[in-house]
Amino acid sequence: MTLKTKDEPSGADLDREIDRLSAAGLDALGYSDAELERCARLTLRINRLKKKMNAVIPAHVYQRVEIVHGVADFIGDSYKLAKLCVDTKADRIVFCGVRFMAETAKILNPDKTVYLPAIEAGCSLADSITGDDVRKLKAKHPGLPVVSYINTTADVKAESDVIVTSANASKILRLMFERHPRLIFLPDEWMGRNLARELGKKVGSEIVVWEGKCIVHENFDASSVPLYRKRYPGVKILAHAECSPALVQSVDFVGGTGDMMKYVKDSKARHFMLVTECGLGDLARTEFPDKSFIPMCRLCPYMKATGLEHILKTLESPSRDQLIEVSADVAIRARRSIDRMFELAEGPEPKR
Ligand code: 13P
Ligand code: SF4
Repeated sequence: MTLKTKDEPSGADLDREIDRLSAAGLDALGYSDAELERCARLTLRINRLKKKMNAVIPAHVYQRVEIVHGVADFIGDSYKLAKLCVDTKADRIVFCGVRFMAETAKILNPDKTVYLPAIEAGCSLADSITGDDVRKLKAKHPGLPVVSYINTTADVKAESDVIVTSANASKILRLMFERHPRLIFLPDEWMGRNLARELGKKVGSEIVVWEGKCIVHENFDASSVPLYRKRYPGVKILAHAECSPALVQSVDFVGGTGDMMKYVKDSKARHFMLVTECGLGDLARTEFPDKSFIPMCRLCPYMKATGLEHILKTLESPSRDQLIEVSADVAIRARRSIDRMFELAEGPEPKR
């Protein structure tokens, strides 16, 4: 006879949890019965512990669907997650995303305990530039304001004048250009080039860019777009703003993950292609079961580093390296550039 541990769910609880996860769309995504049961055993324990410890779990939309639908308290793009983290009443934040997102949550909540469940969850863009690089860039271009994408370390944010995300980069850059003839945009070179084209600015003389790249979005090839259009007539092709300028110019819509989901929601089209990390397509399939999503996606190894096991381990016995810490001096300066983003993103529209 096997003895039940105190954490072992009853058969009825387990069945209910399996049904909940199936109904949320995991079944439709092809999760096997065994996989559903494995997830359900973990989500039950995580959700119980989360409540007991007054912890909140924000999850980026690229996270695994069992995290998004199984344990997340809120989901969203980088901007929405940052905003929601400002208002949380929880004592602990277990951030399911990548390190720069968890760091942002810590900067916004210096008195709360913030954890990153998978310590290897970095980001190639954030890794492409250091605070020291920004200081050198500023010395080379004295007086130019520094606009940094949120996919940066706390040190880089501390050296920046304003932060942007894919959801507000265009608006904030327009506002900045109302006051400055030239600025530095970092670290995503392609996003910088896409914005320069959209705003009619010259790279180099008006927007100084850095050569950072996203290892996921740099791999999409514009030459396959006409082939997909021929094969799926009427398909709407949406690309993330981190994609190459050539690709961005050949698609129907460009934006961040939040904008892409909104486009799908509002569109009457039946077929879509989401050119971005695969998690967005999985989420879209569960949220819009009547629409079809043609795969043109890649996995981000950093975003996919987090599993339910990591989250459970973080709640049960967190290790020191899962704890996010930002020194007070860096946090204060980084907070200024993030608050400037909130102010500009939520404020009046730029003059066109
Ligand atoms: P979003 O803010 O559009 O969700 O983008 C985050 C990201 O890491 C894109 O690769
Ligand atoms: Fe960073 Fe690209 Fe992964 Fe987003 S998809 S976390 S930008 S490496």
